[in-house]
Order: sequence, then structure tokens, then C-alpha cells
Amino acid sequence: MSAAAPVSSAAPGVAAAPVFSVDGLWKVFGPKAERVPADPELAALTPAELRSRTGCTAAVRNVSFDVRKGEVFVVMGLSGSGKSTLVRCLTRLIEPTSGGLAIDGEDVLAMDKTRLRELRRHRAAMVFQHFGLLPHRTVLDNVAYGLEIQGVGKAERRAKAAEVVAKVGLEGMEQRRPGQLSGGQQQRVGLARALAVDPEVLLFDEPFSALDPLIRRDMQEEVIRLHREEGRTMVFITHDLNEALRLGERIALMRDGRIVQLGTPEEIVGSPADDYVREFVRDVPREQVMTVRTAMRTASAEEAGNGPAVAPDATVSEAIEAVARAGCAARVVDSGRCVGVVDSGALLGVVAGVGGDANAAVGDGRASVGGSQAAVGDDGAPARGSQAPARGSQAPAKADPGLAAGDDEEVA
Ligand SMILES: Nc1ncnc2c1ncn2[C@@H]1O[C@H](COP(=O)(O)OP(=O)(O)OP(=O)(O)O)[C@@H](O)[C@H]1O
Ligand SMILES: [Mg+2]
Repeated sequence: MSAAAPVSSAAPGVAAAPVFSVDGLWKVFGPKAERVPADPELAALTPAELRSRTGCTAAVRNVSFDVRKGEVFVVMGLSGSGKSTLVRCLTRLIEPTSGGLAIDGEDVLAMDKTRLRELRRHRAAMVFQHFGLLPHRTVLDNVAYGLEIQGVGKAERRAKAAEVVAKVGLEGMEQRRPGQLSGGQQQRVGLARALAVDPEVLLFDEPFSALDPLIRRDMQEEVIRLHREEGRTMVFITHDLNEALRLGERIALMRDGRIVQLGTPEEIVGSPADDYVREFVRDVPREQVMTVRTAMRTASAEEAGNGPAVAPDATVSEAIEAVARAGCAARVVDSGRCVGVVDSGALLGVVAGVGGDANAAVGDGRASVGGSQAAVGDDGAPARGSQAPARGSQAPAKADPGLAAGDDEEVA
């Protein structure tokens, strides 16, 4: 996405090849697995039918996506939906049954042993849920391990390891062993070990699910920071929706081996592809995910010159604050230009789950505000979320005639 790292090989204006390109990928476990993707009738069976007819489990079913350079690509789904199998297929730690798979345009399925080893050691590093540290080695030597496997000399790998240890905030702990560290610190070592080989892409398989919520948040911040600072491509597996929404630039939602929806957090929360996804995102505080783009409408000449300015990718929650504070609609300003306006009615419509069509939101939004606040209140992050709409909700009641006339000044 916009955070993409510069790509020297691509000519200006030519999109870089995706880091991973996955095309119709299948992984079937069980006897004569290859016949399942090859036979349309078998391929169409439900997981239970497939198991009883063939004894096979289709862990990954006809999955296609690209991972773009520099993005955080999240794969989310319930336990057993196929996430780990999919991420392991990317470096052929699990051998795919059929389909296409490329890294930087190079066919991964055609790689020989040497090339595959090179892929796993240099290009794609994995961070695991249970850290996978060597208990008898120091932090420094654990971090240097990947470099050691690469054949890097001792002095050089230790120097590099020390640098990465500092980068993940473990300075001073170089000589400890994993058993002398907290869970969060151990996972920092796991992260440092993956970073030390300077991989093109980091693969995370539920790296933080063994950590308690506060440490987990810390580690998420760490990933966000690393991504911001280095623009490294990341594929991040999680079954936690909040984690997916925090980290993902795009999210692939898996169910029974298939991707049921692939989109930005805003697309997934704002336009769920089916009832399954809708149910999945039901309790998400929408105002913290949806941006003002969703709620904005064309500004009149007068509106374009008045009111507080918000960026197009500001969250609805941020815009509600701005609108409530100013007492009038906010201008959506992109590179110094007013591209639209958001008023309190439209913003509330998003909160209430009727956003998207800003005009419809004005009328319908208010009716269900009470319900939506209750839903927000159920969530783990209610403090800001539930207060903002409450403040905002004062405005539209008064502002109604003004909104209808397209004159937001009346809100004040
Ligand atoms: N080696 C295997 N042999 C047979 N079936 C397997 C094997 N590995 C995984 N499966 C099955 O494939 C499906 C997907 O498993 P996978 O581990 O990819 O799920 P997951 O989404 O990572 O789940 P979790 O969140 O619990 O880690 C499950 O039904 C699982 O039982
Ligand atoms: Mg898993």
C-alpha cells in the first residue's frame, strides 16, 4: 500500500511484482489428496462430506491473493480455518497439493532444495506462537542463530544480533537465557531472531496469542513501529479480530479453508461479504475503523470554506470529536483541497451501522443510535467510543432542519 518500500527494480509507474502471489492454492490432507482439487464434485463438498467420502481434510481450498511489497497482510479466521497451513505453504514447510505460488515472480513450487533453503533462511523469516527459542543459549546467541545457519562469522553475527536486540528493546538482557525472561520478552527474542536475517518478508503465526493482553498490546505496538520504520512486508496470522484490525492494511478472512472476504479493515467492517463476516465484525466499534471517506458528501461553496478540517483517512471517531468541538460540520481536506464535508448526522449513521450512504444515514441514523451505543458498550474499548457518539448525538437533534437544507452552520 502507501507504506510500500521503494523498489529499485521496478521502473517508475510500473507496479512492483507482489512479494507473494498465491493462485488457486489447495492443501488437502489425507489419502490420495491430489484427486480432491482435480475433481469438481469432490472440490465442491462441505468439509464434513469430504471427510466422510474420502477421509481427506481440505485445510486450504482454492485460495488466491497477492501480498504487496511493504504491506501488513493479515490472515484471520477461527481455529481450524486453515491459517497455519496456508502460511506454512508459502515457504513449502507444508507442500501445497495444487495451485500456483510465486515470490517476487519466482515460482516457489519449482524451487529445488537449495533454493528453498535459501528462501527460508534469507527471504522469509517466521515468528511462531511458542517462540521456538533454544533454551540453553543466551538471548544474543538465539538472535544470532539464523545468521549462524547462514554461515555468517561469529563476530559479525554477534554484532548484528546486538543491534537487533537493541531494536526490539532487550538491551541489557543479551546474556540471559530464555527461561529468565517473561513471555513478552521471549517473543521479542523470537522477533529479533527473525529480523536479524533481514528477511524480505516476516511471517507471523499467531505470535502473541500466548501473551497476556497488556503485553500483547505492547508487542502489537512493536510490530506497528517496526513496520512504520522499516516498511517491511509482513504476513500476520491471528484469530483475534481486534489484532487483525489494528495491524492489517488488508485482511483475508478464512473459513473452512476458503477466503470468504479480502479487504481493508474498513471494507470488512463496513461491507461484510456475507452473514458469517457480518457476525464476525458485529461488535466492532465502527467509528474507530471507518474513515470519514465513508460518510462524506459534496461540500457546498460555503461549507468548503468553513469548519474544522479532517483528513480523508481520519476515523469517524476522530471526526465526531472535531465536529462536536466545533459545533459544525467538518471539511475533509486532502493535500490542502476540500474534497467533501462530513456532518454529525452522517457520522452518527456510520456509528449506527447505516453509514456508507451519507444521505440515508441522516434520517435512519438517529433512530438506532441507542442500539448502537449498547453494542459499542459491550466492547473492550468502550471508553472513547461510547462517549464520542453520546456527545455527537446532541448535535443532530438540533441540526436536523439545517442538515436537510444542507446548511450545517445551524448545528452551532
Ligand atoms: N497434518 C495434518 N493432517 C491432517 N489434518 C491437518 C493437518 N494439519 C492441519 N490439519 C487440519 O487442517 C485444518 C486447518 O488447520 P490449521 O492448523 O491450518 O488451522 P488454523 O486456522 O491454523 O487453526 P488454529 O487457529 O487453531 O491454529 C484443521 O481442520 C486441521 O485439523
Ligand atoms: Mg494455527
